[in-house]
Amino acid sequence: MSVSTLLPRIARLATVMRKPGSGDASDRPLTQASGASEPGRGIANASLFLKQWASNPLRMGSVVPSSPALCGRIARLTRVDEGEIVVELGAGTGVVSRALLAQGLAPERLTVVEIESEMAQHLRRKLPGACVVTGDAFDLPRLISENLHGRVGTVICGIPLVLLPLERQRRFVQAVEAVAPGRGFLLYTYCITSPLPYRQLGLSAKREAWTPLNLPPASVWHYRPA
Ligand SMILES: C[S@@+](CC[C@H](N)C(=O)[O-])C[C@H]1O[C@@H](n2cnc3c(N)ncnc32)[C@H](O)[C@@H]1O
Repeated sequence: MSVSTLLPRIARLATVMRKPGSGDASDRPLTQASGASEPGRGIANASLFLKQWASNPLRMGSVVPSSPALCGRIARLTRVDEGEIVVELGAGTGVVSRALLAQGLAPERLTVVEIESEMAQHLRRKLPGACVVTGDAFDLPRLISENLHGRVGTVICGIPLVLLPLERQRRFVQAVEAVAPGRGFLLYTYCITSPLPYRQLGLSAKREAWTPLNLPPASVWHYRPA
């Protein structure tokens, strides 16, 4: 079977996983509120995602966007105090971003960073009011204005860090620490165990959530400076 016939089939499968009611009980209200489960939007998201995956699978790290169940878990783990923002790295089609907004985060308090320009354009259209930055998350201190350094409540990472060498992972940790000192970051992953060698990176690690209702099942880890 050719890639061009396979991709629409995977997109349809991903959309089925996004149908209302496909989340577990604790995720249901956010799933319905997020709008990420609208069939038309789901197919458009999945198609864009697949296209990017076909051109750069290692950078995408996944064939389909995260499910509403996973996005809901991430949104509920996100903490943001008065005067702080949330930074999402590797926002893709914006499914996590929309779950954050559906949970009540004001768009002007959300900054998303996406390296693929077509994805970033899509995010600008889909996330009015949010700050969408086209760029490399490893340049984070340069990408967000200095007056926001130290005012980041939560950093969420969708970048497949597990595929990177230790030195790159260390650079990522330093970039996050520069803008959100002491806070660490949330990382969602399909790995069964920690996707990062956290002790070597000077981090502590806690698996905060696991959901089977994702393709494939996924965990959310919180890494902090040890
Ligand atoms: C697994 S996808 C996650 C997308 C989306 N957040 C979701 O849950 O479906 C990873 C995303 O990270 C982006 N990405 C990869 N490396 C990046 C980097 N260095 N800086 C910013 N974005 C990056 C990819 O383009 C892709 O959109």
